[in-house]
Amino acid sequence: MRTYFPGWGWDTSICPADQHFLEWMVEHNHFDKTIFHMGTGKHHMVGQGLYKGNSIIGATLSPEEVAAYIELVTDNNLLFHNYQVLFTDIHFLNPLFLPTFDIVTLFHLAEIYNPVDDGMTLEEVVRMFKSKLNPGGVIVHYNKSSSRGPAIPILERVLNKVETYKTMDVYA
Ligand SMILES: C[S@@+](CC[C@H](N)C(=O)[O-])C[C@H]1O[C@@H](n2cnc3c(N)ncnc32)[C@H](O)[C@@H]1O
Repeated sequence: MRTYFPGWGWDTSICPADQHFLEWMVEHNHFDKTIFHMGTGKHHMVGQGLYKGNSIIGATLSPEEVAAYIELVTDNNLLFHNYQVLFTDIHFLNPLFLPTFDIVTLFHLAEIYNPVDDGMTLEEVVRMFKSKLNPGGVIVHYNKSSSRGPAIPILERVLNKVETYKTMDVYA
């Protein structure tokens, strides 16, 4: 499998994705949501910001981000319970292991993807998550991603854009 080195620190001047997502959650008064979050960062700000009142699965390809998670949850049982992190490539997720979600973030769709790998294609990933949405559920994309070029046409083909908030495009 491919990995992501080094882990990503908190730098909103380069990547405000997680910050804007947290602001979007607050502005919409979203609470009690089941969330799949692609791209935790070493900072785990989405997990840390939302674990009180939401259930979040984070995904990362970075061993450093996983190590930071282990350190973070070691003395915090509530965080450990409500925010769990998978070391995985979203193209290799097994849908049978996944529950359904109210919100799926695919912020970094196509950033680490190689069609020669034998996992799901980009479109198959989006369709798989679409099939995992609860009624009223949404998929959120970071529209300033370095891979927005390949990612956005696929999202627009499979889903309908229902909102843009700062750098967040929201699809249903
Ligand atoms: C640039 S960092 C951004 C981290 C965080 N979302 C933020 O806004 O600060 C990209 C993140 O996406 C994750 N990522 C990229 N491609 C991935 C893939 N195919 N599967 C799982 N995680 C992936 C990386 O491991 C990393 O956590």
